[in-house]
Amino acid sequence: MRKIKSGIYGLNPLLDGGVNENSTTVVIGRSGAGKTTIATQFIRRGLQDGQEGVFVSLDENKEQIIREAVEMGWSDILDYLDDELLVFIDASGREFSNFIRKELPAFVADWKGSNARIAIDPLTPVLWSTKDLYEQRDLIGFMFKETRKVGTVLCTLEEHGATDLTGPETVIPMYLADCVIHLRFDHVAAKHTRELQIIKCRNSRHDQEPHPYEILKGLGIVLQDGQRRVDVSDLLRRSRNERQGVPGVPDRQRVAAAARVDQRFVRTGPGRLEAVHHGKRHR
Ligand SMILES: Nc1ncnc2c1ncn2[C@@H]1O[C@H](COP(=O)(O)OP(=O)(O)OP(=O)(O)O)[C@@H](O)[C@H]1O
Ligand SMILES: [Mg+2]
Repeated sequence: MRKIKSGIYGLNPLLDGGVNENSTTVVIGRSGAGKTTIATQFIRRGLQDGQEGVFVSLDENKEQIIREAVEMGWSDILDYLDDELLVFIDASGREFSNFIRKELPAFVADWKGSNARIAIDPLTPVLWSTKDLYEQRDLIGFMFKETRKVGTVLCTLEEHGATDLTGPETVIPMYLADCVIHLRFDHVAAKHTRELQIIKCRNSRHDQEPHPYEILKGLGIVLQDGQRRVDVSDLLRRSRNERQGVPGVPDRQRVAAAARVDQRFVRTGPGRLEAVHHGKRHR
């Protein structure tokens, strides 16, 4: 199995070097645990390593996600969007079963073998759109099989109520995924506890312990172990965006411009998945 870097500081050694290429990882966590952050980090690392990125959003719109990434200090995302190396598929408010069965295969046929990274954030509305567990298993299984043809997949999953992975919404994706990561987020009064734990990882050795993590501006999720604390200022220095951006154009305007592209794309009706990378892909 070839490994690719996850983009999450401190995680790769726990996965015997990184995420297995062409695998599916499910990241489970409560609201505020860092799911969208981890999905963006994963995609951004791929872009930095020369891979393309596909961000499928089922909840927030494209503008919100880009704005959050820019707020996090990752404005190079705007350059990747301009260069059409990063593509957004806004699937929020859609009829998911139809979307997955009909439109996804057309997209996959075009992108097959491109070794991209795909993030799906969050998978939860898809689970809720199915009428029973049988259909849920079938639909999620189909979705994983299809998206893996395009590259390496990371899906997020909301955790409701207890933080011990016993919720009914997590069962099937946990079975079907190759790798399961739990972002455990507890808050009692003003105190927040965050721990990351790898629950399973097919075809790889992996660490089994919970590891405290922080979410830091400029870096995203950083695992901070007692024995092996990360030198944050050094990481920030190394991760600093080296691309210069577009001179004279504030990020705020660029976010709005990038979001407009998405709106046009969403309105185009059937065939919009092709429209997104219009003129760019040549296979
Ligand atoms: N620019 C930032 N600087 C520092 N920390 C940030 C920044 N943006 C987000 N965070 C931290 O990340 C947390 C939210 O992370 P994220 O949006 O990835 O969570 P989520 O799991 O996707 O939540 P939800 O289920 O509500 O979508 C915030 O509550 C905050 O603690
Ligand atoms: Mg989110």
